[in-house]
Amino acid sequence: MDNIIAASIIAADFWNLEREFKKLEKSKVSWIHYDIMDGHYVPNITIGTCELDSMTKKTSIPIDIHFMVSNPDEIVPHFLKRYKGANIVNITVHLESCKNKKKLSSMVRKAGIGFGLAIDPGTSESKLYRYLDIIDLALIMTVNPGFAGQKIIKSSINKVNKLNSYLSKNKINIPIQVDGGIKLNNISQLIDAGAKIIVSGSGIFKTRDYKKTVGNMINSFPSE
Ligand code: DX5
Ligand code: ZN
Repeated sequence: MDNIIAASIIAADFWNLEREFKKLEKSKVSWIHYDIMDGHYVPNITIGTCELDSMTKKTSIPIDIHFMVSNPDEIVPHFLKRYKGANIVNITVHLESCKNKKKLSSMVRKAGIGFGLAIDPGTSESKLYRYLDIIDLALIMTVNPGFAGQKIIKSSINKVNKLNSYLSKNKINIPIQVDGGIKLNNISQLIDAGAKIIVSGSGIFKTRDYKKTVGNMINSFPSE
């Protein structure tokens, strides 16, 4: 797959969401990255079905859901039912908290949605190896999950490198997604390491002109 940008919506101005979406829709953002936090797996509670109900009705940008919850095995099936036919492109859960990855993957894929597994900065990328046949993307967290606006953890870039080498060596075609602390000034390091799906929150929403910022991010992609 080609490199793409996903805008992490929790960094947006929630007082003015409609305006935020109008600005985003003018940019070349490919996906909305939607962070669901439960105040248990991570020390923060973010957005859930109320906001997602509106977004799935109002925007045409595909939604990429990232569950940072302790019990994805229980929550995800409800979401699959509620958002049947909605424009959801992926559901990603954490490797650390998902109990039955195979079962959840098959449910998600049956709904026509990509299934992703995410790993925290403290988890080795090698933990993903045994699940590569049941996932559609591998998310390497580049900050400790919980909050937008953190600084990137440099060592996680090396994990992207290692996973990318493993995938190429074994001829496995799964895109690596990276999430946390990514901005225009460090995006090329992640692309060079092999990341394909770049999630950025503050790196987009804390700038004035989203179209220009995303355009500049895309300019740092390798030309095909
Ligand atoms: C962190 C979230 C990220 C975060 C990205 O727990 O999963 O998606 O919101 O925001 P920035 O780019 O500001 O780190
Ligand atoms: Zn996220």
